[in-house]
Amino acid sequence: MHTGCSSDQVAILSERVSIHGQWSSRLMFVLAATGSAVGLGNIWKFPYITGENGGGAFVLVYLLSIALIGIPIMVAEVSIGRRGRQSPVNALRALAQDDGGSRFWWLVGFLGIVTCLLILSFYSVIAGCALAYVLRTAGGVFRGVTASGAESIFSGLISDPEKLLAWHTLFMIMTLGVVARGVRSGLEQAVRFLMPMLFLMLLLLVILGYQLHFESFMKGVRFMFLPDFDALTANGILVAMGHAFFTLSLGMGAMMVYGSYLPAGISIFRASFFIALVDTLVALMAGLAIFPMVFASELGTGSGPGLIFQTLPIAFGQIPGGRWVGTLFFVLLVFASLTSAISLLEPAVAWLVENRGIQRIRATVLVGSVSWVLGVITILSLGPWAFGFQFAGESRSKGLFDIMDVLTSVIMLPVGGLAVALLAGWVLSRARTVAELGGREGVAFWLWYLTIRYVTPVSLIAVFLHAIGVI
Ligand code: PFF
Repeated sequence: MHTGCSSDQVAILSERVSIHGQWSSRLMFVLAATGSAVGLGNIWKFPYITGENGGGAFVLVYLLSIALIGIPIMVAEVSIGRRGRQSPVNALRALAQDDGGSRFWWLVGFLGIVTCLLILSFYSVIAGCALAYVLRTAGGVFRGVTASGAESIFSGLISDPEKLLAWHTLFMIMTLGVVARGVRSGLEQAVRFLMPMLFLMLLLLVILGYQLHFESFMKGVRFMFLPDFDALTANGILVAMGHAFFTLSLGMGAMMVYGSYLPAGISIFRASFFIALVDTLVALMAGLAIFPMVFASELGTGSGPGLIFQTLPIAFGQIPGGRWVGTLFFVLLVFASLTSAISLLEPAVAWLVENRGIQRIRATVLVGSVSWVLGVITILSLGPWAFGFQFAGESRSKGLFDIMDVLTSVIMLPVGGLAVALLAGWVLSRARTVAELGGREGVAFWLWYLTIRYVTPVSLIAVFLHAIGVI
């Protein structure tokens, strides 16, 4: 394959080989990485945090974060992964040492593993709810359902620890099954078919919303795209920025580990741009499918994590054939969650295989079990151990679930991302980075390099300082 590198540049390209294998083609990398990026973050989380943070202005900050922080960090993570050809912990240590930096950069990889496990624990609980909704929709539970009916069906599920535990466990077993059977055989094939289906389903829901309730559809569009800067708080900016990491699977090594299986000679710039574009489109479409329904049913935009589970069933209950459209939708949502969940396991699994010599299947079960136990705590915190606190001006009371979310998305991911930006922009050898990124110091390279060196770290630090009231 043509790499676009001169012979000198080839000489400084990494000679490392991954012990875990490689993606079979560029398409497979792009599909797997898009599968990791597109998930509950787009369809469940983006609409509810947009609703809680006032709409348009929040969406604008989110889009800016994707462009100025997300895409540059994705390029950095994938290129570090490909050059290192190991799990993030080992790749970060090796590259920093090769280029004269401290060996303690491995700590960033380790922080990533901890973040992945924490995220997977609650991710699996929400994906479990989506699984439960497959059965409920197929069973016709939502036919003609009202807003308050949908609300009580959801709260019935969320406050029943036994049911949640069963669904959480089932989802975790599905995830472990996929990872243990190997990514190439089952997953690559499925992603190729199911991701476009999910995209089409969302499009269908947007069109349905437009046809069923035109007025509410336009209200939804205005809510999402007309920025009202008075509704944007310092906290909202922080949440938007944190979500850019969450939705693109950045700041914890997931993209880095996928990059470590990427064959040489494939353009990291192009692949990253494409992944971010698809991810953003899916999130915006999910918002356009959900907000018209929120306005049509007079539900509040700030109802939090239950938003999609309370709004979409109303739509499915109203349209002819909604039972089957709804079932298919939740099946696809489960699938999108699965392709994300497996990437949350991968950094830890790869590290255990490399450093502890544990077989892949055992490592998968070990990491999955830790996350499963943490998930049980999340479940208990939604029911028997529930506690809540409400800050002035907030629409709902918050609990352990929200603490985990803030700890991971708003603190740990941006900190991990900042470290990657500093490493790529200031520590690693520019010549080697150029070689990894296609061999030419062209416009694309310089745009990226200046952004990762200055714009990304400065914006990240400024948002943090703003949030704690320093600027
Ligand atoms: N990007 C996924 C989503 O938006 O649902 C979530 C996620 C997957 C976060 C993998 C982090 C990760 F490593």
